[in-house]
Amino acid sequence: MKVFPIAEGIQMVSVNATGFLFEGMWDLPYGVSINSYVVGKEEVALIDGICGWDHTKEGLDTFLKEAGIKLEDIKHVVLNHMEPDHTEWISAFLELYTDFDFYCSKPASLLLEHFFGKDDRIKVVADGDTLELASGHKLTFVSAPGVHWPDTMMTFEETTKTLFTCDNFGSFGSLESLTDEGCEEKDLEFLETQQQRYYSNVLASFSTQVGRGVQKTRELNPAIIAPGHGLAWKKDVNRIMDDYDRYVQYSKGIAKEEVLVLWGSMYGMSGKMVQYIEEILEREGMTHKAIPVNTTDLGTIIQHAWSATGIIVVAPTYEFNLFPPMSYTVEEMGTKRVQGRVGFYTGSFGWSGGGKKHFAEIIERKKMNWDLVEGYEFKGTPKEEDKRVVEEKVLEVIKKVRTCIAEQ
Ligand SMILES: Cc1cc2nc3c(=O)[nH]c(=O)nc-3n(C[C@H](O)[C@H](O)[C@H](O)COP(=O)(O)O)c2cc1C
Ligand SMILES: [Fe+2]
Ligand SMILES: [Fe+2]
Repeated sequence: MKVFPIAEGIQMVSVNATGFLFEGMWDLPYGVSINSYVVGKEEVALIDGICGWDHTKEGLDTFLKEAGIKLEDIKHVVLNHMEPDHTEWISAFLELYTDFDFYCSKPASLLLEHFFGKDDRIKVVADGDTLELASGHKLTFVSAPGVHWPDTMMTFEETTKTLFTCDNFGSFGSLESLTDEGCEEKDLEFLETQQQRYYSNVLASFSTQVGRGVQKTRELNPAIIAPGHGLAWKKDVNRIMDDYDRYVQYSKGIAKEEVLVLWGSMYGMSGKMVQYIEEILEREGMTHKAIPVNTTDLGTIIQHAWSATGIIVVAPTYEFNLFPPMSYTVEEMGTKRVQGRVGFYTGSFGWSGGGKKHFAEIIERKKMNWDLVEGYEFKGTPKEEDKRVVEEKVLEVIKKVRTCIAEQ
């Protein structure tokens, strides 16, 4: 756990968490930071608690010492969002100390009771309500429903113009420096890949609500953006707002001039076509990446799908349907609202086929609104005739992607 001052009387508490699956399912190749904040001194407000605390009395004492506060100074605990990555500390904390109030939205108050039991300390706050501290800090609560969960709000500290945004503006990736001031450009560029991963894996389904949250943030004109995961932004708050605006835009279809080739193959027949497709994309100067879906975690697949305007799916027929690792992948892209892409399916079959039909059925049922180039199934290994047809289709995908980007 690191404790670091980010503004007058405001400290960031951050821990790098690794070696587990986020939400029980998302791989974290570079871990994830979980942040909370300490505001004030004699009358302290903890925002999103004490992330990274080991739940022991000794661990709590260490935290209090590093933050330079006393336990009895903690008068207020603000809960911006009830997901346990930000609230799992509550039960253990209540065992040691109870002389404080919780501040949270109405939906969060219901979740608090269901997660941690009924509590008479809960103060329900609405958009625009304020809390003034003895230190002069003034907290205003800003509702942000649907930024991950229906309970979410943000908290704005007016004297320092610090906005505590919880999941909004979050990122995967462990932190060395806790703020963007301590990062070099190459660090920020790397962390941007982890931001896109976090956004696409965790927030993508709620892109409309996140977009509203970004708009609300711009209206508040914060000097510091202090999220629950990832860097606190001080040097360049516009950079993270612009990145998030882009991610929200990608949910509408037109993303980067990139083609993602998602593929799966049992015996290498469809795999041969993947090699050929990559050669065409290379020759045509189209940025591309090929990912085997049966050996790649879903988080990585969705991360790359998020910024690709074109997605080519290559997989065989399996028991009259699309190869199961691929049908699962396409279904999950639908759930994460990978929508409005330029798409094309091709794959090998033995006797009846069925992969093409199943693929189109998923795109339709999940309302993904892809602009599909007519799919193409081939028997066994790809022959010259099959390659000729697929080449035409891939050129059509490239053309459509370039037209989308040009007309944007
Ligand atoms: C378990 C299994 C189920 C299959 N089911 C079908 C099927 O229902 N219809 C069909 O046309 N081919 C079916 N096939 C044949 C494959 O689609 C065919 O062998 C294809 O060339 C495999 O391509 P791949 O090497 O890219 O995996 C099946 C093959 C296997 C191993
Ligand atoms: Fe969350
Ligand atoms: Fe979170």
